[in-house]
Amino acid sequence: MFEQYKEGQVTFLSPRIQKVPTTSMPVFYNPQSELNRDITISAIQAFLNSHGKMEARVCTPLAGTGIRAVRIAKEVDGIKCVVAGDCNPNAAELVKRNSELNKVSEIIEVHHSDANLLLTQHHRHKLRFDVIDIDPFGSPRSFLAAAIGALKSPSLLCLTATDMPVLVGIRPRACVKRYAARPARTDYGHEHAIRLLLGCAVREAASQDIGLKPLLAIYADHYIRVFCEASKGDDETWTAVSQLGHLLHCDECGFRSLASTIQLFQSSCPECNSARTQRAGPLWAKHLGSRDFIDATLQQVLRKPLGTKRRLTRLLQRLLEELDGPPMYFDLHKLCDELEIPIPSHKTIIDAIRAKGLFCSRTHFSPHAIRTSASARLLRQILLHCTKGEQHHV
Ligand SMILES: C[S@@+](CC[C@H](N)C(=O)[O-])C[C@H]1O[C@@H](n2cnc3c(N)ncnc32)[C@H](O)[C@@H]1O
Ligand SMILES: [Zn+2]
Repeated sequence: MFEQYKEGQVTFLSPRIQKVPTTSMPVFYNPQSELNRDITISAIQAFLNSHGKMEARVCTPLAGTGIRAVRIAKEVDGIKCVVAGDCNPNAAELVKRNSELNKVSEIIEVHHSDANLLLTQHHRHKLRFDVIDIDPFGSPRSFLAAAIGALKSPSLLCLTATDMPVLVGIRPRACVKRYAARPARTDYGHEHAIRLLLGCAVREAASQDIGLKPLLAIYADHYIRVFCEASKGDDETWTAVSQLGHLLHCDECGFRSLASTIQLFQSSCPECNSARTQRAGPLWAKHLGSRDFIDATLQQVLRKPLGTKRRLTRLLQRLLEELDGPPMYFDLHKLCDELEIPIPSHKTIIDAIRAKGLFCSRTHFSPHAIRTSASARLLRQILLHCTKGEQHHV
């Protein structure tokens, strides 16, 4: 029934995957999530190093085969204990077998338990964790409150969300119910998704007097993954909630603005005056990461033997390029379709925008998008100009 697989530094058992992994497998394992696990190993190491933590306690309450728990135990320096749980009895049994197979059973404590129960049992001061990794089917929303209560200060909270139709605004009612936030449907849906999830996590943490600060956030392979530092205290919490805001997006001209909540009485577009606008939020309105942390994670990626090293290196370098840019990228396909022009080369567009003294970079969110401080209107003019220029040179 089980087959041996290899990933990172571990060999482990998983049910054989027929074509694609499905939730009906006896125990769930998705080889495609290797990048998610590789970035997690690197980010945890960067976090522990930066805080001088040598005896870290980690929790993976949705463990599956235990591949993530075993890899953390084996590949991250400074781990004292990994508490791994799963509500599926086959999974809990397999985590034990995989821990033994990799000789880390002394570090890994296995529980056949509901995730919220396991986390709540670790709310007492001495039992809390330095790192909690929530990697669910779909949304992490229902595990947030229990996870936040089980975090030390400071600590690292890692969240995966795969409920993209909800987070990009295709299912607005589900979004309001699940995340208590109104979504918009835009051409920068994946960034909108990250900001919406972060907004919800920040508000949940604030209710427990914990401030969350995004250290790193990515979209890859149809999921989003965010890493946040959690710190207890009134100032930390206030700083975090002050960085929430609302989005005003114009469907007519593509104007977008993320403003602090109080500023948002305007409903018509300040650029074209259209009433065809959408408002969304609350959302995380500030930077999607910390340069020092992303850089430290990149250094770990370069140092560790990882299966997705090349792709991850490119992704993190791109994150660094776009980090200081304004929120909400522009989809060049959509704009050029509207203008009925071929897409000019990225280099031509980026050079033309930078020549005007404005910010412009590629974005890890999409190979067909750019992040720029140019307005939607100016960007259209520049695109038209670039196309004329390129056609002239043919
Ligand atoms: C996406 S898989 C985890 C994959 C794993 N983290 C990895 O990297 O391979 C989600 C897991 O959560 C478990 N699960 C779902 N709901 C749960 C709950 N309420 N409590 C505990 N485990 C749960 C499922 O049995 C499944 O094994
Ligand atoms: Zn407008």
